Amino acid sequence: MDREARYALIDALPKAELHLHIEGSLEPEMLFALAERNAVAIPFASVEEVRAAYDFSNLQDFLDIYYQGMSVLLHEQDFFDLTFAYLERAHADAVRHVEIFFDPQGHTERGVAFDTAIGGILRALDEGQARFGISYRLIMCFLRHLDEEAAFATLREAEPWLDRIAGVGLDSSEVGHPPSKFARVFADAKAKGLKLVAHAGEEGPPSYVWEALDLLKVDRIDHGNRALEDEALVQRIVADTQTLTVCPLSNLKLCVIDRIEDSPVKRMLDLGIRATVNSDDPAYFGGYVNTNFRAIADALDLNRE
Ligand code: HPA
Ligand code: ZN
Repeated sequence: MDREARYALIDALPKAELHLHIEGSLEPEMLFALAERNAVAIPFASVEEVRAAYDFSNLQDFLDIYYQGMSVLLHEQDFFDLTFAYLERAHADAVRHVEIFFDPQGHTERGVAFDTAIGGILRALDEGQARFGISYRLIMCFLRHLDEEAAFATLREAEPWLDRIAGVGLDSSEVGHPPSKFARVFADAKAKGLKLVAHAGEEGPPSYVWEALDLLKVDRIDHGNRALEDEALVQRIVADTQTLTVCPLSNLKLCVIDRIEDSPVKRMLDLGIRATVNSDDPAYFGGYVNTNFRAIADALDLNRE
């Protein structure tokens, strides 16, 4: 398949995006616009300066900038604008269904109410469904660098919104914060009828993926790259028909892989793993979902099958 035919196929394919942090869709232009609208000082003089700062050598490098970027999100309308801009981009990429993450603790920790964040996000998701026909699920993530009690407090804050939240996830700094730290809060979330997902095996070892499966009892694994280092784990993932939400350009930007040719997507598919392609934090990692598909289709010589 030549490149043009590949790109035409990718662009037209109806897609689901299953790994997208809404705060990671904050483009530098919107960062500046919201900083001005809300009179928030940011340590950048121009959009070019912001983009130049997006040069990461690991996950933590990125997270430091990601949390800093959130500081401009103050009002319900800000969360609406952020989310609706993502949905417009997703619509342009023929995305028909999204399951997006948000990080409530990234907002409540700096004094923005849980209701402000989720209210704006949900209003935009409803508008996106009405305008573009994009169906959605919302996943509330716990920040794993914070403690178990903070996660429990967040679950309590979510109580009035539980009919609008499909599941809980686990993100932020992985190494040193294994899934086991959150086994009890995930059990509680499950008892409340929520679906469970967790970032595992992005930077963390295969044992973290085992923990996500055995201790958290997740319905899906986010990233999961390092599962490929453990043959028994691969067999388990295949036997359980677990889905992995892989993020090729994220992996490249965060140095999880050295070259896009090292993306594990094709190896995973060949092993029988349900690997999906997603953009993670597209404003920071160089592209939305179609750009991710294009990058691996070229690098891994993917065809229609
Ligand atoms: N990994 C962990 N936490 C995150 C990520 C990620 O890729 N993106 C936003 N928060
Ligand atoms: Zn992620």
